[in-house]
Amino acid sequence: MLSRNDLCWCGSGKKWKKCHFPALSASDETLLRQEYLKKYSIFLKTKEHIAGIRRACKLAAQILDQTCLMAKAGVTTNELNHYAHQLHIKAGATAAPLGYGDPPFPKSICTSLNDTICHGIPDDVPLQEGDILNIDVTCILDGYFGDCSKMVSIGQIDEEKKRVIDVSYECLMRSIQILKPGILVCEIAQQIEPYAKEHGCSVVYQFVGHGTGVAFHEPPQIPHHINQIKIPLVKGMVFTIEPMINAGAPSGYLDPKDQWTFRTSDGKPSAQWEHTLLITEDGHEILTNLSR
Ligand code: MF3
Ligand code: CO
Ligand code: CO
Repeated sequence: MLSRNDLCWCGSGKKWKKCHFPALSASDETLLRQEYLKKYSIFLKTKEHIAGIRRACKLAAQILDQTCLMAKAGVTTNELNHYAHQLHIKAGATAAPLGYGDPPFPKSICTSLNDTICHGIPDDVPLQEGDILNIDVTCILDGYFGDCSKMVSIGQIDEEKKRVIDVSYECLMRSIQILKPGILVCEIAQQIEPYAKEHGCSVVYQFVGHGTGVAFHEPPQIPHHINQIKIPLVKGMVFTIEPMINAGAPSGYLDPKDQWTFRTSDGKPSAQWEHTLLITEDGHEILTNLSR
């Protein structure tokens, strides 16, 4: 057995620890993983992690779609929560929101209605014609996380609500489209904020997208408002983009009673769409798309 201070097997005449010792002969991928963990606390995913995350994301997308189909006038968000919860159980998965955080989130999905920006708690109020609702599903399958959300409209909605829904969707898709290795985290928001403003909307800055996959919320933060985060995207990064777009002012406030529901300060509507994304060798993959 070779020891660290022996001469290296390669004939260089150097000690093994200064030459072909495993840490130094690690593959480029391992070196990059070490660098991202040390420099940014970002955990890059291997092929094995990605296989698991892909399954969790696909399930989250399926549960989200099925739950959205149930959202109709007269249905309560508690009923949607119950339905989504059962779908998790049937698939052998866990709903990540349930019991998450402090105070523990009390339900299995988030349902954010009209002026609620995010983290709305399902309740017994029936949906009404003219409402807009964000449903956010995060599931844990075999220890891996998938996180996505969508908007649903209940019957006919007014112009202002239609605008925030369309603008937030467009913001998400425009920012996804540029993703590939070498793009900086701050370039994501550059696809979002100018577009939102040109269309008479504002961008929420108090909540951000996030790394995910092996935990609910991992580094890095992915702000949707203009920022200076110069982290280059690399292969193996998994994160969400989830722009929250307001029809009025960008600011919001936390419900003092439940400590979760985050509403617009001016009472105007807000909308959000979310995908979990993977950075690949030469581009990206939308992991929470149903087609995969
Ligand atoms: N799914 C949300 C996100 O996109 C987080 C919800 S936290 C909860 O990050 F506790 F409210 F579920
Ligand atoms: Co998220
Ligand atoms: Co989410």
